[in-house]
Amino acid sequence: MSPVVPGLGEMRPHVRRSVRVMDVAAVPPANEATWDRWLRPAELAACRERHRPVLHLAARLAAKRTMLALLGLSHTDGERDIEVTGGGRSAPGLVLEGRVARRAAWAGVGQVTVSLAHADGHAGALVVAHCGPQGRSRVAPAGGLDILELSRWRLAVHRGGASLVARVTGGYECLADSRKPALDVWRSAVRFALKECVVKAVDGFPSGGRFHDVVVTFDDTGRPILRCTGAVGRHLSAVQLEPYEASVATVAPGVLQAVVVMRQAGKA
Ligand SMILES: CC(C)(COP(=O)(O)OP(=O)(O)OC[C@H]1O[C@@H](n2cnc3c(N)ncnc32)[C@H](O)[C@@H]1OP(=O)(O)O)[C@@H](O)C(=O)NCCC(=O)NCCS
Repeated sequence: MSPVVPGLGEMRPHVRRSVRVMDVAAVPPANEATWDRWLRPAELAACRERHRPVLHLAARLAAKRTMLALLGLSHTDGERDIEVTGGGRSAPGLVLEGRVARRAAWAGVGQVTVSLAHADGHAGALVVAHCGPQGRSRVAPAGGLDILELSRWRLAVHRGGASLVARVTGGYECLADSRKPALDVWRSAVRFALKECVVKAVDGFPSGGRFHDVVVTFDDTGRPILRCTGAVGRHLSAVQLEPYEASVATVAPGVLQAVVVMRQAGKA
């Protein structure tokens, strides 16, 4: 089992993370030319062929703006110096160029990873960066973001019933919950969202991996505690990563943001 993570632990100096979730109603429609100022042609083309382009555009804009914020830069004219690559059915990446790349080098930012998420009305991004005088770390940090609308989760549980809950919730978690008040939608939603974050942080479940390998319990104050076991735990050991942060926040009424950050295992 990998080490227990405090739900909202203080970030260590060499790993920084920034997250931004945008209300999709507040961004321009997908076909507006404004997007050309923020996204590059390849990004625009990839997003515009998706079923709901605006979600993918907004997630990429959030990624760029959160990267700029992490570097202490304003977003005026900085977005096109950052390219969001990949995504779709695999992990996205960030390429920094020009003024943004120079600022990152000046700030001692080594590896940068990004995670994207969208729900019906929101889209967002988590950026995790290795920072410090030592520059690049032997192992790049990783992160996963998930956005969950509680009403949709409630509906999914209603429709999927016991089989959905059983797929997501393992025996140890059921045991831990039995000592607490009745299993509520909030707790199962937090659990599911954090597990989806882990899936994203490791770029898909490793062979043999499943939701039960990610164990989410809650401390007395309701903060989540994350452990990775089984195939997921073994995968993390192999790539020398360990969970570092597992946190949740409400970004709008009924909308949950979950964040998981992984850092190089054994780092003080
Ligand atoms: C990868 C996964 C977590 C994505 O979740 P989702 O709810 O479909 O979509 P979200 O809006 O939360 O996230 C979408 C983003 O995840 C990112 N993503 C997709 N696959 C990814 C992967 N393997 N690793 C990291 N990020 C990935 C993409 O950037 C995507 O955004 P984009 O299309 O704009 O590029 C999910 O599809 C998955 O595989 N879950 C695992 C197990 C499972 O079976 N779940 C079903 C529910 S019971």
